[in-house]
Amino acid sequence: MDGAVGRTGPLTNSSALHPTAPAGNDFLPGPVLLLGAPGVGKGTQAQLLVTRYGIPQISTGDLLRGNISRGTELGLKAKEIMSAGLLVDDEIVNQMVLSRLHEKDTHRGYILDGYPRTLDQARFLDRTIADPVFLPRLPVIAISIVVSYDQLLKRITGRRICPACKSIYNTYSNPPKAVGVCDLDGAALTQRGDDTEPVFIERMKTFDAQTAPVVAHYRDQGRFEEADGDQSVEAVNSAVEQAIVKLRRTFR
Ligand code: AP5
Repeated sequence: MDGAVGRTGPLTNSSALHPTAPAGNDFLPGPVLLLGAPGVGKGTQAQLLVTRYGIPQISTGDLLRGNISRGTELGLKAKEIMSAGLLVDDEIVNQMVLSRLHEKDTHRGYILDGYPRTLDQARFLDRTIADPVFLPRLPVIAISIVVSYDQLLKRITGRRICPACKSIYNTYSNPPKAVGVCDLDGAALTQRGDDTEPVFIERMKTFDAQTAPVVAHYRDQGRFEEADGDQSVEAVNSAVEQAIVKLRRTFR
């Protein structure tokens, strides 16, 4: 499905980073939710987990941007909402995820990136995956990545993306070798329309109002760990993988 899988700059191979963590077919990651404010590194970490566990990334932001670039009716509606830093309707996003969950590559698990981000979406997800038609029969475990506000602003305004291979760069922390050009395929890097300071401020307000309760929802159920995102990509990856293993031992 469009936009569901990408890569993190040319940094990464998480198996090489964590040779002792479980890998391969003997560890069933199940549904893993990455939570956090705009720019905390959900997409970056999701791409590492895709490589690590061989399960897909389901990014509602990428799915919506795919609709925008194809000029679909949904994309036309979503574009305006996203440029204002607001959330697309729950019903639209829920149906998008539902149809993605019917695809066979989700049977060992998947990384949810940017969904659910309202309490209604969280309840819809919990209800949906309780239906035995969806594999694996495991509950969602949630990892919340936390980064300070000033860092987030730099991460958002410095982010550049390769439109061809979806690698994620940052002009401050992970620049490409040649300015504006992807190291891997030479494509011209692009900047997201909502990666400006004014839209970031609105996205943060939306996060505090609508997504913070989702964090509390999973924390209250115990299916939750927090990871310090204010460290290197590799260190965050290590913390996230440890949290996944710990939670999955309990929730299976
Ligand atoms: P979405 O695309 O989900 O955006 P977001 O949640 O705001 O998150 P971002 O993609 O901006 O950041 P990220 O956490 O993935 O960070 P990344 O890894 O790229 O959503 C966009 C919009 O779509 C929403 O505003 C909404 O309108 C709509 N939408 C999406 N889902 C929806 C839903 N469920 N319901 C309703 N509406 C929805 O990293 C950021 C930068 O930091 C990169 O440059 C990266 O290189 C750098 N970086 C990452 N990790 C580190 C590190 N450890 N150290 C230094 N730099 C780092």
